[in-house]
Amino acid sequence: MPSLLLLFTAALLSGWAQLLTEASSWWSLAMNPVQRPDMFIIGAQPVCSQLPGLSPGQRKLCQLYQEHMAYIGEGAKTGIKECQYQFRQRRWNCSTVDNTSVFGRVMQIGSRETAFTYAVSAAGVVNAISRACREGELSTCGCSRAARPQDLPRDWLWGGCGDNVEYGYRFAKEFVDAREREKNFAKGSEEQGRVLMNLQNNEAGRRAVYKMADVACKCHGVSGSCSLKTCWLQLAEFRKVGDQLKEKYDSAAAMRVTRKGKLELVNSRFNQPTPEDLVYVDPSPDYCLRNESTGSLGTQGRLCNKTSEGMDGCELMCCGRGYDQFKSVQHMIVFHGPPLIFDLIFRSPLHDVEAGIRSQRF
Ligand SMILES: *[C@@H]1O[C@H](CO)[C@@H](O)[C@H](O)[C@H]1NC(C)=O
Ligand SMILES: *[C@@H]1O[C@H](CO)[C@@H](O)[C@H](O)[C@H]1NC(C)=O
Ligand SMILES: *[C@@H]1O[C@H](CO)[C@@H](O)[C@H](O)[C@H]1NC(C)=O
Ligand SMILES: *[C@@H]1O[C@H](CO)[C@@H](O)[C@H](O)[C@H]1NC(C)=O
Repeated sequence: MPSLLLLFTAALLSGWAQLLTEASSWWSLAMNPVQRPDMFIIGAQPVCSQLPGLSPGQRKLCQLYQEHMAYIGEGAKTGIKECQYQFRQRRWNCSTVDNTSVFGRVMQIGSRETAFTYAVSAAGVVNAISRACREGELSTCGCSRAARPQDLPRDWLWGGCGDNVEYGYRFAKEFVDAREREKNFAKGSEEQGRVLMNLQNNEAGRRAVYKMADVACKCHGVSGSCSLKTCWLQLAEFRKVGDQLKEKYDSAAAMRVTRKGKLELVNSRFNQPTPEDLVYVDPSPDYCLRNESTGSLGTQGRLCNKTSEGMDGCELMCCGRGYDQFKSVQHMIVFHGPPLIFDLIFRSPLHDVEAGIRSQRF
């Protein structure tokens, strides 16, 4: 009997520890600004032990690569901002709830939304580290060493200092995935399925940045003749990475874990996801109503658009509960002057813009 009780307590404790680790994440580096590298004392370890949300493996990487931490935080922030932009008109709008758990309990559910969040934040880290290398901010990397593209015209120079996306990719893989790799769940368990899901989505995010980086060139030569061009590898604008990952979100694949500990499609008629695709293992929670147990904040108080038929339309946003209406008027300044083009653009003197209609729960 006592052994049974012990077993029970142990199970309870491990479940609780699991909750705790899920509740805090390296994402919190985005919320609590990390000190800049020049403020670190060489070899000082305490900084890493004070940063919230790191897993044991990430803490070790922090000790080895302290100067990277500020950029990981910056990358996480960029990712979160992009997530909030992409989801601004949806029921779940990627809102953060606090500094340590960042998104709250909703991330404990292996939903499509969780998939996107993992991907976009991993992408943010690749982006930030690749740029920091190019800017000479990190001692372990510099300009990109990517080989000259075969199709670059012969007389163009390949040699500008490019974003080091190879390094950014590799470092982000080490750091972001560390947290998943150190978990050791039974093969085929739900928890292991979730680890596989996270790893796949992290990779999809990193690859989006890697694949979208492209050649950029600058002209040289007398008075803009462009007789000479210098080219380098350049990261895509992060908005474009966000757009791409949003498309991947829309086409994300529903998966389940097999007994052998692999992910397989729930519906085998669909195409097998590639490493660039997002996957999820749980249905999304109901984002309409506030629910403490799922972490859903609900849509009460959100703005909706009465004339929109999209997700920001009032019927969908307010989940059919009805809504309050208000009208706001925006005045646009009319430009009176010679340049015709301005008159064309601002022809109508006054725009009444129905800006928002507030939802209300009944
Ligand atoms: C939480 O984040 C905010 C905004 O970044 C910051 O001002 C505040 O100090 C943080 N709080 C804690 C307890 O770290
Ligand atoms: C919260 O969500 C859980 C899981 O979906 C559900 O079982 C429960 O009824 C919900 N609670 C409320 C108050 O809606
Ligand atoms: C996102 O949703 C939450 C919860 O409904 C709300 O409090 C917050 O203001 C929303 N953020 C934006 C930018 O609309
Ligand atoms: C509301 O939706 C309509 C139709 O999609 C759009 O033309 C309009 O700009 C939207 N208004 C706001 C304030 O977003």
